[in-house]
Amino acid sequence: MDEERVPAGVLAAAVERALRAPSVHNTQPWRWRLADGAIELHADPARHLVATDPDRRDLVLSCGSALHHLRVALAAAGLSARVDRLPTVEDRWHLATVTVRSGAPVSALARLSRAIEERRTDRRPLGAEPVPPRVLDRLVTAAAGSGALLVPVVDDGARHRLDELLADAGARQRFAPGYAAELAIWSHRWAAARDGVPAGARTAGSGDPDLRRFPRGRLADTRRRWATDDGSVLLVLTTAGDGVIDHLLAGEAASAALLTATGEGLATTPLSQSQEVAAVRTRLAAHVLRSPDHPQLVIRVGYPDPAAGRLEATPRRALESVLIRP
Ligand SMILES: Cc1cc2nc3c(=O)[nH]c(=O)nc-3n(C[C@H](O)[C@H](O)[C@H](O)COP(=O)(O)O)c2cc1C
Repeated sequence: MDEERVPAGVLAAAVERALRAPSVHNTQPWRWRLADGAIELHADPARHLVATDPDRRDLVLSCGSALHHLRVALAAAGLSARVDRLPTVEDRWHLATVTVRSGAPVSALARLSRAIEERRTDRRPLGAEPVPPRVLDRLVTAAAGSGALLVPVVDDGARHRLDELLADAGARQRFAPGYAAELAIWSHRWAAARDGVPAGARTAGSGDPDLRRFPRGRLADTRRRWATDDGSVLLVLTTAGDGVIDHLLAGEAASAALLTATGEGLATTPLSQSQEVAAVRTRLAAHVLRSPDHPQLVIRVGYPDPAAGRLEATPRRALESVLIRP
């Protein structure tokens, strides 16, 4: 294999594509450093949502999804990558070092490349068309590649219990000190900050009761009859362990599932409220999944409503404000 050192400009271009990754409230809680043919990923604790995400799970999951986006971008550029997760014992924010070489990429990763720019978080009602089991299976397989289990909640009883838990998590968070303030801050960021959830990504109506209730935006809800003719499916991403490494891998698995879903023409919505409230998370494992595994993220997928227009891309910070060059 060709072991040539990859130029820093090529690495920086891959990092720039990874910035399109989803992150909780679009906080983009990451920093990157180029070092000697390698790319380091660091979490940015200054962007931690202390009230919303007390366990820092969403923070690390967001970085994990950016790590997977990076691996896709590198593979699409014809580069191979070796990933060392949590490589520095003394620095818990150093989440990964990716050593890059020219050489055969993993083609399954490269195939997800186009979806990086096409993926959006869609908070609108979704279409009535059901998602076929074989398509759900592809998402499950994609997540399994990063060592996480993605469980489609298709049984009516389990779905009903999950709907109740999502609503309960929303109700409890509304009164949690600091939660509303974080939601308001990240929904009303200055355009120049290039982060947060802009009005164009938030619905103008009250929204699906399963979804996080953001301040009203300007996204038209194309249909009003939530739940009656919505063919979307909820899937729960779980891991056997619940440490930082598991959250990082879960973020990578979430990215794999979201990009695969986008490639299948599905709209997607990551939902983290039922994991942010500890009491709800315990009930989700016990009463919906009936499993000792740890829920990390709920993902809603469904075909977009045929009448719904294309969503605008949400902003991202400039590469130069998140990348440290040698
Ligand atoms: C760990 C994580 C948790 C998230 N939780 C939610 C959520 O509970 N509700 C929601 O509407 N969006 C959620 N999102 C989606 C983000 O708000 C979204 O990725 C971000 O605003 C950027 O927009 P984009 O995905 O369209 O690029 C989450 C994303 C991640 C990675």
